[in-house]
Amino acid sequence: MDGNKALIAYETKGGATEEAAQKIAEILRSKYQLEVDLVDLKEQKMPDLSQYRNLVIGGGVRAGRVYDKVLKFLENDLSGKRVAFFVSSAQAGTPGSYEKAKIKFVENTLAKYPKINPVATEAFGGRIKILGKTVTDNRDMVKVEAWAEELGKKFTQ
Ligand SMILES: Cc1cc2nc3c(=O)[nH]c(=O)nc-3n(C[C@H](O)[C@H](O)[C@H](O)COP(=O)(O)O)c2cc1C
Repeated sequence: MDGNKALIAYETKGGATEEAAQKIAEILRSKYQLEVDLVDLKEQKMPDLSQYRNLVIGGGVRAGRVYDKVLKFLENDLSGKRVAFFVSSAQAGTPGSYEKAKIKFVENTLAKYPKINPVATEAFGGRIKILGKTVTDNRDMVKVEAWAEELGKKFTQ
């Protein structure tokens, strides 16, 4: 297991989670000199997890649920790893609904995987496109960047 390596595994349907994952990767690489691999859980083969000390797992939320491939990924044996978890959810980006969304989509999800003791969790806003047109976008990339910095510090401790 390499303390300098991080894997960011994500599932996206509308692209918001992927863009957050890419931003996090960029910051971990450029500011913290971590070697980062990005894996789209829908499309790419899973690399050997044993090589990573640091994991970031991210997924979108639709119909009140975090995407399935993310839930499946959380079943892996992640013992001994530093795990960070985030979701992209329109509710989390709506003023007044953030706390509820964080409990429902982050805390209640992770409660089903008691072996995971995350070093950081966050619920970001999301983006809804209909027929290619953005109808809602309450993402906050400054918040994503700040969280990536927090991860960089924790992963290089
Ligand atoms: C069909 C559909 C259902 C959705 N349901 C929810 C929901 O239950 N709660 C929520 O907070 N956001 C919901 N959203 C908004 C998504 O969380 C938002 O699109 C987010 O960006 C999803 O992540 P992704 O872009 O990585 O797929 C929904 C969006 C769509 C298109």
